[in-house]
Parts: sequence; C-alpha cells; structure tokens
Amino acid sequence: MTTTPRQSRSRRLGPTLVLAFCALAVTLTALQLNYLSDDHLSYSLRSQHVPLNAQQVLNRCASLRAVPGPPTNFAAREESDRFEPGTNATLIQNARLWTGAYNGTEVLYGDIILDRGLIKEINTEGDRMRTSLASLRGHLNIVDAKGAWVTPGLVDLDSHLGIMSLPLLSGDLYDNQTGAFDLNSPNGPVLPSLRSVDALSTHDEAFQLAIAGGVTSAQILPGSANVIAGQAFMVKLRKTSERSASSMLLEPPPGLNGSAAHADSPRWRHLKQAAGENVMAYGTRMDTMWSYRAAYHEARKAKGLQDAFCEKAEAGLWESIGNFDFPEDFKYEMLVDVLRGKVKVSNHVNEIVDIDSLVRLSNEFEFPIASIHHAAEAYLVPDLLKRMWGGTPAVALLATNYRYKREAYRGSEFAPRVLVDNNVSVVMKSGHPATNGRYLMFEAQQAHYYGLPPPLALSSVTSAPAHAAGVGHRIGRLAEGHDADIVLWDSHPLQIGATPAKVWIDGIVQIPVPPKTGQSDSPVKVGVGKEDAKWNRVPSVPNWDEEREKAVEWEGLPPLGSKGSKGIQDKVIFTSVADVWVKSAEGVVQAKVSGQEGLGVVVVEDGTIVCSGTSLSCTPANAEGDYTFVDLDGGSISPGLMTFGSSLGIEEIQSEPSTGNGMLTNPLLTNLPKIFGDVGGVFKAMDALQFGTRNALIAYRSGVTAGTVSLRQDTMSSGSIISGLSTTFRTGAAHGMDRGAIVQNVAALHVTLARPPPLSGHARKSSVSVSEQFGTLRRLLWGFEPKETQTGLWFSKAMEGQIPLVIEVHNADIMSSLLKLKAETEERWGTTIRMVFSGATEAHLLAQEINRAGVGVILSPLRPHPTTWDQRRILAGPPLSNDTALIVLIENGVTVAIGVNEAWQAQSARLDLAWASIESNGRIDQQKAYSLATTNLEKLLGIVNSPDDATDLVAYRGGSLFDLSSKVVAVLSPARGAVDVL
Ligand SMILES: *[C@@H]1O[C@H](CO)[C@@H](O)[C@H](O)[C@H]1NC(C)=O
Ligand SMILES: *[C@@H]1O[C@H](CO)[C@@H](O)[C@H](O)[C@H]1NC(C)=O
Ligand SMILES: *[C@@H]1O[C@H](CO)[C@@H](O)[C@H](O)[C@H]1NC(C)=O
Repeated sequence: MTTTPRQSRSRRLGPTLVLAFCALAVTLTALQLNYLSDDHLSYSLRSQHVPLNAQQVLNRCASLRAVPGPPTNFAAREESDRFEPGTNATLIQNARLWTGAYNGTEVLYGDIILDRGLIKEINTEGDRMRTSLASLRGHLNIVDAKGAWVTPGLVDLDSHLGIMSLPLLSGDLYDNQTGAFDLNSPNGPVLPSLRSVDALSTHDEAFQLAIAGGVTSAQILPGSANVIAGQAFMVKLRKTSERSASSMLLEPPPGLNGSAAHADSPRWRHLKQAAGENVMAYGTRMDTMWSYRAAYHEARKAKGLQDAFCEKAEAGLWESIGNFDFPEDFKYEMLVDVLRGKVKVSNHVNEIVDIDSLVRLSNEFEFPIASIHHAAEAYLVPDLLKRMWGGTPAVALLATNYRYKREAYRGSEFAPRVLVDNNVSVVMKSGHPATNGRYLMFEAQQAHYYGLPPPLALSSVTSAPAHAAGVGHRIGRLAEGHDADIVLWDSHPLQIGATPAKVWIDGIVQIPVPPKTGQSDSPVKVGVGKEDAKWNRVPSVPNWDEEREKAVEWEGLPPLGSKGSKGIQDKVIFTSVADVWVKSAEGVVQAKVSGQEGLGVVVVEDGTIVCSGTSLSCTPANAEGDYTFVDLDGGSISPGLMTFGSSLGIEEIQSEPSTGNGMLTNPLLTNLPKIFGDVGGVFKAMDALQFGTRNALIAYRSGVTAGTVSLRQDTMSSGSIISGLSTTFRTGAAHGMDRGAIVQNVAALHVTLARPPPLSGHARKSSVSVSEQFGTLRRLLWGFEPKETQTGLWFSKAMEGQIPLVIEVHNADIMSSLLKLKAETEERWGTTIRMVFSGATEAHLLAQEINRAGVGVILSPLRPHPTTWDQRRILAGPPLSNDTALIVLIENGVTVAIGVNEAWQAQSARLDLAWASIESNGRIDQQKAYSLATTNLEKLLGIVNSPDDATDLVAYRGGSLFDLSSKVVAVLSPARGAVDVL
C-alpha cells in the first residue's frame, strides 16, 4: 500500500506534538530531540537560528493537515452562529417528524423546540420534556402541527440563485457562451480563484420562491462553462438583518474575508468543475482534460514546495528554508486545497467518457470528488464511480430533465433507483434556474414515483446533499443541536403538490411570510382539500422493475415503440376497472364502471369500447381464447392528453441542429429569399414532422397520445416572430403515413411577441422592438399582404376567425395592447379573431379583460417562474398567495389550457394536471383539471375531432391519471383500430 506524503508525515508528527512544539518554538531545546529521532534530520538542529515568525509558520504548516469539519465541541453549542438576536423560541407540537436518521427510515411523533437558531429538543410521544420552557429565548411561539409532517429544510446541492438573479437582467455582460449573468467567466477554462459569493445578488426574487418550496439552504455553484469555474458557497436563503451576501453564507471558510486560516476548525471549501459539452467553448474533450491536468500539475508543484518547506520548518531546519516565508500560491491555492482533501468538489459531467476521464484524473492527482452533477449516464457505470479516488461521489440528478442534448440523451428517470441499488448516494437537485428551484421536492417526488424508496427520496433533498457538501453536522436532518431549519408540510412531502405550511430558517419564521409595514396580514390558505388521511401517507407507486432493467441493458436507449404483433391487439378485455372517463360538452367526465366490489370490465374491439359493466353482462362467450386480458387493478381508462408548446415532434435533441428542423429565417431582420415568394415566411409544421422521437414515445407511454407543434423557436434566441402553422399528430405513430398519424394537418397560426431577450449584446444585434412587432402584426392582420402569398392567406384567415391566432406572450402590457389590436381589427373589418395567448405568465393581471375579449389562455409552464422581465409579475400560489394564475383565469370565465416549453416536460403532463387540481385548495376539481390538457387545449388550438377519428384512450393500472399509484399500460385507439398493449 502506498501512502501520501501527508499521511506519512502526520504519522511521524502527531498533531498534539506539533501544537506543543509551536508553543515553545522560540526556545527550541532538547524538546526537539525527544521526537526527532531521524538521524539525518537532527544532525544540525542545535545550531539553527530560529526566526521570529517561526510560530506563525509552524501554525500554518500544522493547518495544512487539519481536516475540515466542525470543532470537536460543536455538538454542545447552545446558540447558532447564525442566531439573530430577538428571535423568539418556537414549540411545534404533535408533529410527524421525518428526522433523516437511520438512512432516512426514522419517523418520530412528538414535539420539537427551536431556540437560539437551533433545534433545542426533540421530544417524542410520552417523554417528559427536558427543556424548561422558562429558559427559552423571548416569547414562545406554539404551533400545533396536528399530526402533519415536519422535515428538515431542503438542501439544493446545485443552484445558481443570486448569480443568475431573476428576473434575468444581463448587467450588460458578455453574452457569448462563456460569460453571462455572473454565472461563468469568459476569461479562460481554469479559474479556481473565482468565487460565487462575489456575484451573489441578494435581490434575486427566487430566494423567497425557493423558501416557499421548503428549500432553506443551497450550494451556489458557478456555471458549467469553464473547466474549473470557481469556488462555490453554501448559503441559507433567508434575508439576514445585515442584508449582505456574506451574511447569507453557511460556514464560510476562515480567511474568506481576509482573516487568517484557523488551524483548529477549518471549514470545507467548495469548488465547481465541469467536463463535457458545456466547456466546449474552450476546446474539445481532449482540451478539457489537458486543462485539468495542467492545472493540477501546477497545484501539485505548489503543494510539493509547501510540504518540503514545512518538513524543514517542523524539523527546525530554519536556515535551509531561506527567507522563511511560507510558499503561498495565490493562483492555485484552491487546487492545492483540493489536493489536500479540504474541498468538496462538485463536478458537472454527463457521459461515460467524461466520467471515466474524471476517475483517471482523480486517481492521477489523488483528490476526491464529492459529487457529480447532472450525471446522465452515471447509472450505467456504478463500478466506475467506485474507482474515484477517495471514495464514490454522490450523484446529483434531475428526475426527468433529459434528451435535450447529446450528453443527456441516455439519461433515465430510473437512474436514482439504479444508483441506490448499487449503494451510491443519490441527491436530487434543481440546477436552478435550469429547473425552477422552488420545486426541488417535485424532483424527489418524481424520483420516488420511478422507484426511489421513500426514505432515500426524502434523504435525496435533505441529508444526502448536506452530507455531500460537508455540512451534514448542522443541516439536512432533524437532530438536537442542529440548525433550526424546518418545514411543516400540508401533506406527506412525497405527495404531488405538497406545500409548506410553515418554514423556519435559523428558527426564524419565513413562511407564512411576515407582513411588512403597511401590508395587510392576509393569511394564505394551505392544504385545503387535503383533510383526508390519505394525503398524510407515503403515496404508493407502481413497479418499474422491467423498465428499469431494460434502461440499463440498452444503455439508456430501451426500445419504446409498440411491441408490434405482440402488443397491437384487436380484442382486449380490461378487468378490475374502476372508471372510464369520457369527453363531453362539459369537458371530461368520470363514469364509474359498476361490477364486483365497485370494479368492472371494459371490452374493446378494434380500438373502440363496446361494453363496460359487470363481467357477467359484458364478457363475450369464449372470451378466453379470442381476447387479450389486461388487469387494471382498480385503474381507469380515460382520454389521452395532448401536449403543446415545445418542439416535440419536430426535433429529437434540442441542442443538436442536425436532429431538428433548423432555424426559421427572421423576416424582420433579413429579407427572405425571393424564391419563398412570401415576405413573412409562413410555413407548416406538418412538413417538418418527425415520428418516433424518444420524447414523443416517452410522452406516449405517459398518457400523452397527441401533440400539437408549431415552428416556434426558443424565445431566448430571437427567432422569427412568425412561428408558422401548427399541426397535430399522434405521439405513438411509427411514421407519417401510419394510420392515424396525423390528427389535423393545420391547427393554428402562431406568432410570438416579446421584449428583447436579456442578453444585451445579442439583443441589440438580433432583436426587433415590440412596436415593430406590433406594426407588422397589425399590417398582416389588416390584409395588406396579397392573399396569393402564404402570409397574406393565413393572416387573413386568422383575421376572419377561420383559424386560431395563437400568440406567445408573457407580459400583461403587451397583452393589453393585443386586446386593443383585436378590438380595433374586429371593429374595422367586422370579424371575430380567435385569439389565444400562450405562455401568458402575467395573464392573471388582465383576467377579466381577457375573458371579455373572448381570448383563451394556454399557461406554459403551469407553475410560474419570473424568468424574464416580461414574466416577472407571477402569481406564486400557496403558500405565497391564495390564488394562482390558473384559478384567477378560470374564475373569471377564461378558457384555459396548459402547455410546456421543452419536449422532455411532456412526460410529466399528468403530474401537472394533478398539481393543478391539488394546488387550487379544492377550487379546481379533477374533471376541470383534465380539460386543461384535453378539451380546452383542443378547443383553443382549433382541433376538430371528427367522429370517426375520436380521441385515443389510455388505460392506467393501479389508479387514475391523477394518482401516483398508477402507470400507463395500454392505449386504445379507434382511429388506429386497435389497442396498443405496452
Ligand atoms: C417575539 O414575540 C414578541 C411577543 O409576541 C413580539 O412582540 C416580537 O415581535 C417577536 N419577535 C420577533 C423577532 O418576531
Ligand atoms: C445506511 O445504509 C448504508 C448503506 O446501505 C449501510 O451501510 C448503513 O449501515 C446504514 N446505516 C444505518 C444507520 O442504517
Ligand atoms: C466571449 O466574449 C468575450 C468578450 O467579447 C471574448 O473575449 C471571448 O473571446 C468570447 N468567447 C467566445 C468563446 O466566443
């Protein structure tokens, strides 16, 4: 076995001895001889001149060996270093406490006392309280949890809160790939000295939003566009009385603010590194690894100089050291600390090739990597992960955020379970604002749905990330002496839509938000409609063993298409069916299937239901041989959902141009080629359709049987304002000529109206003013383009109301100008425009006016995010506001549907519907929620279902589409004349 120089030296020179030595450094005498037995070291000792700074030097040398972590007496602390004077104590009674102990399996029932920023006592049922209430600080707040769940505050291991502050404003920074929003520096691939705290804006609106989701701490990582992007910091999300970025830091390393290093209790430092696609601004994968190796080579040299220096100093060989200054290396000191094992490295990496390179790197330079992030392919190589130097890293994942780039193409929703089955620690994270950091728990909920056991799903957003960041001694668990970061939930936290009723950070209440001076204290209702005991239980979830094994066997690309003759069936009998939902004029309505114990059978021939009822009344004679039987185990059959808003159906991998349709030319910036014969460039999505994309097939297997797609481009990229004509297709069709592949060739005409994107340089170069966009739209709607052209033809159809005009718009001011344009146009031409706003983040501000104008709204995303200035006035929903945009619009009579922005999100459509219903505090029932992705969406997009092309139905086993217990097992398609048994 080989040992590192550090190990061998520390064996020779125990810390106690070193300390003793330091204290007596100036009067070196015989003491040295006691322990310096090596002849070759001791020969010149007696004759050395000892410098005046010897003690400092020796302290510094001793500090090199100090292992980061809490001081030994940390557990005995009586007050948090983050305690804010004046904070009252809190007693939470009758709570169901998920503590995080015993690998997340411990649940206690009892009371918890918060005092001086700490968890003072956890008092379980029946025990006598040890704390005297009189000893607590200030006034005692008493909260009766009434049996509700309490967890530690959530910890987000990957967040850009503060350094990508919302709403996004560029600060006039560089807008190329390497530098934007204080996220990454454009100044080179290796920048270990940069520090995210130097860019931490305390005004980011997302801090409070994240707290509203129960997130109390986050690791603020620089972005992933540099190989070594800089130092990360752990922060608590609450506003401090000092209001500074520094005061938000959790256990900042000593020396951050220029103070000297603490030898006795150094803190963990944090570093962000990246490998793979994101750093390609600086070269290829080969360049990346060379950047790492060149940098760590320098760091190793610097470390070697320090070690040699200290070896001599500690041996008392002062004269041979020379000028006595400890050889600091200001540029590489962070990497030297990495080599000394004092840094929790977070490494962005996805593909096996890059993971393998990192494993080699860590072994070559002998440093550990605490966590790997995104890590789309980590689940395929658990044994490789275990070869990482210094131990297996935690794997920090998103639940379903895959396939948007090559690196993430093989990612799997089953990865968390595969990894924990291989004893790898799994962390679920947000990458905020890559996904909305408020919904960190939703990542854990989805991981749980796809197989991660409940204790580990809860650990994955609490104790596992806290441990991976080296702060597990104070956050991420409920334990006496830990920080008082607490969430009281309105349901079991793994239930979809679980919402914090109360949140404390450092014992200070954050949710409900204390009203500011002059604000009325109007309480927000949380948890209405969740009175039933089932909400307080862990949701049961389906078995995914087969899918999970296949995902691994096929290296992330399991076949998703129909099983062919094995799957496509003419005659099917579904048994144990609880209900069948059907479309009606009112939307989607639920009808119980009566049979034994409330469950019946449904007989399907050629894709159409021919009988539903009791087994006796429906089952044909000789059914055994002729029919395929599918047991739904109390499940449902209900209309398939439609997805809208993303590029699902016209591209396979978002960031790979060769897998998509390509960019439309922007007619407001360039003259379109003459050969188009069309000044606006109105083109048809139907010509660009692709079938069998993985996003479409996964959506199909998740109950989304149809998609409507336009030629829309990402709004951040200043594409054409005209997104062409949308088309509606079946997600499960094999190709464009497949029976029933196309539901409707042309659905609606689409345009986008937005302010310039926040990347300023880019915006100046390639965007068009709002007024010019309006002028263009008015001119086109008023028929000033000849009808012989596509632009003239389709805009006149839109003006006449023959086709819906779907306008992607987020900002309420632009919406009100659009409502005026609509009225002006209709008055002038005597027509009615079928106008629809999609995106529509701020639509609630104009709900009444939108309704009065007969305009429909497609909210996408459902859960709002103030990403840009246009989107900043969100209605956040419980626990920040009683209303959501959805509720306000529905209650004002607006026809509302929901959409998504990115193709991978289509998979979660049914969870969105469940969320919409649950979050409404009982104001939106399941039937109304169902219509958001079916009848309402079809109506708004102008989809006309002809009777012989009726909707596909989806069979769910183990529950309805609203239940986490269910999964899709078959699709019934009258149009395709068969049942697809999956
Ligand atoms: C502590 O409680 C007292 C009494 O209710 C109250 O006046 C005071 O504002 C509270 N302090 C804080 C910081 O909330
Ligand atoms: C937690 O899980 C690990 C890995 O499965 C196991 O080694 C350890 O004993 C468990 N700890 C407790 C306290 O159950
Ligand atoms: C990004 O922009 C900066 C400033 O304009 C420039 O120096 C740098 O080379 C650019 N980087 C890339 C990768 O284009």
